[in-house]
Amino acid sequence: MAMTIGILTSGGDAPGMNAAIRAVTRSAIARGYKVIGIRRGYQGLIEGDMYELGARDVSDILHRGGTMLYTARSKEFTTTAGLEKAKRNLDNAGIEALVVIGGDGTYRGALDLSHMGVKCVGIPGTIDNDIVCTEYTIGFDTAQNTALEMLDKLKDTEMSHHRCSVVEVMGRNAGHIGVNVAAATGAIDCLTVERPFDIDEICEKIIDQKEAGKTHFELIVCEGVVHDDFTSEYIAEYIEKKTGVTSRATVLGHVQRGGSPTCYDRVMALKMGYYAIELLSNGYKNRIVAVKNNKLVDYDIDEALSMQKGYDEKLHSVLRILSI
Ligand code: F6P
Repeated sequence: MAMTIGILTSGGDAPGMNAAIRAVTRSAIARGYKVIGIRRGYQGLIEGDMYELGARDVSDILHRGGTMLYTARSKEFTTTAGLEKAKRNLDNAGIEALVVIGGDGTYRGALDLSHMGVKCVGIPGTIDNDIVCTEYTIGFDTAQNTALEMLDKLKDTEMSHHRCSVVEVMGRNAGHIGVNVAAATGAIDCLTVERPFDIDEICEKIIDQKEAGKTHFELIVCEGVVHDDFTSEYIAEYIEKKTGVTSRATVLGHVQRGGSPTCYDRVMALKMGYYAIELLSNGYKNRIVAVKNNKLVDYDIDEALSMQKGYDEKLHSVLRILSI
């Protein structure tokens, strides 16, 4: 049966979102459905900022970072009036199903719309990999590789000057980017929300290793542990004072969100986009596409939002053991 499907991206953009938009659009068109692209996430939906997407409208975007549909974090959508406006615009455009690409906040919006009768399917897209129901989110692989590339560059200069680099990475309140790049770069440690840490203990480790002949160090700081009195700058100064090793702080920031998606992010985005349309086509609604044990699965939105996310404690322990 013919169906009109809306698609939007919401929350922080992530490399690979475009690949997902392409996959959703073309999988839907291949089944004879009409696709409406909604610009700037739920805010665009409230404002009726939408247009029909044909197969050619999603050409040449696979390799591009960002999202061709733009994105936003809409405060208005969290209000009853905003939600009702959004629903009216969906009805006016004849959109009965909606594919949303984003994080937990995006799914909460989808849940609200599903209570109003809209068939919603969520695809996980965020660099943070912090969506509880899935092992992987679109953009995570590219972001961690971007951060790693920056760390490799910092290593050249810190090695030449015998310094310690204190490098702050994104991830909101999750340490998944942090722990992976810390392991991949051979950092002395990674400060994360998930695991208690003692900065004095880290300084002692630096002093011991310096005495044993090590000349340069990296410490990864996840943005979730940083606050006004505990900034990366402060941590670098503290380490320098305690250890005598000249230290510099670098905040990688939004550069981690940009860039051409890796092959892995593109392929996963493609699979997830196709899967989302299969779900709708088979009559499923209010589902989140997720990865479990490396396989695509789907959960009810309510269930997905109430799950607990794991953290790679083992990797964290191993990276500390290997940094001697
Ligand atoms: O969720 C993605 C993310 O980049 C987080 O890592 C970071 O905390 C946040 O978004 C930054 O948000 P904004 O782009 O609004 O500054």
